[in-house]
Amino acid sequence: MQEQLKAIMARVTEELKNIQDTGALEQLRVSVMGKKGELTQILRGMGSLPAEERPAMGQLVNQTRAALEQAMEERLQVLSEMEKQKRLEQEKIDVTLPGKTRSAGSLHPMNVVLSDLLDIFTGMGFEVVEGPEVEFDHYNFELLNLPKNHPARDAQDTFYIEDNIVLRTHTSPVQARIMTTRKPPIRIVCPGRVYRADEVDATHSPVFHQMEGLVIDENVSIGDLKGTLDTFARKLYGEGVTTRFRPSFFPFTEPSAEVDVTCAACKGKGCRMCKGTGWIEVLGAGMVNPKVLEMCGIDPTKYSGFAFGMGIERLTILKYNVPDMRYLYENDLRFLSQFR
Ligand code: DAH
Repeated sequence: MQEQLKAIMARVTEELKNIQDTGALEQLRVSVMGKKGELTQILRGMGSLPAEERPAMGQLVNQTRAALEQAMEERLQVLSEMEKQKRLEQEKIDVTLPGKTRSAGSLHPMNVVLSDLLDIFTGMGFEVVEGPEVEFDHYNFELLNLPKNHPARDAQDTFYIEDNIVLRTHTSPVQARIMTTRKPPIRIVCPGRVYRADEVDATHSPVFHQMEGLVIDENVSIGDLKGTLDTFARKLYGEGVTTRFRPSFFPFTEPSAEVDVTCAACKGKGCRMCKGTGWIEVLGAGMVNPKVLEMCGIDPTKYSGFAFGMGIERLTILKYNVPDMRYLYENDLRFLSQFR
């Protein structure tokens, strides 16, 4: 037994020299001192020794064990240190490398224009109101003086949900909703999504955005409309930009106008954008038709008002010279990152 112990001691001492990592060291430890280890086996074998030999033998086993443990512990220290150095070497960070740049997001150009619009109009005392995108025929058409079978209904290719429910074709129904529920004075703008059964091309989309405006009070005149829209054009596109009214027709206004602004690209000199005219059409407007006031419960002998409706895509395209409306919907970062 003594011989065995010596042999183990010698062998382990030799093996320890060659061991190069803590994993192998642990294996060696288990093979000697683990539950089924050599040394443990010897300790178990002590039971078969004559009683008088046991104390001396026990002492010897314990000494061997302590010596082995110490040798292993020393080797462990050395190996751990080596492994730590190796790890530090691998994890070395070059603090002089340039950092990774993080690109910040930015507002979509239509959101830029929308927040400009809201700034401009709230600055003039307008309140922002929204309405539903799924709308009753009643508000989208009837109250706006577009009764069933009215020919002007054809101009708006409507998506029907049910007989009397549509996807709103414009933001004008919000006017009707507000006029039927509030008393003048009314001064609101209503931005939102609208829907028409149009094919997608450079200037059309079945879903697009509008902003409606409505002012109702005593003695509101077309001069107020003109002044309001001139201010809007100047603030959105810059000093020197004004508006031009061309006679037009909308069932809900009388008189009605199509409104052009000075071409922002050439400042009115005439260019490709404005087809040489110096003007670009951006919105429809007019004095609220007394019939509409009456249908909505507002006394047309006491009150008058004006309304306008603008396409936000169109305003955006003109502001930034975007050649095709589809760029606004495709979310191509090469396009969007130009609006930082
Ligand atoms: N609702 C019209 C459209 O979508 C735009 C419009 C024209 C709105 C004249 C108005 C208005 O409020 O007075 O084409």
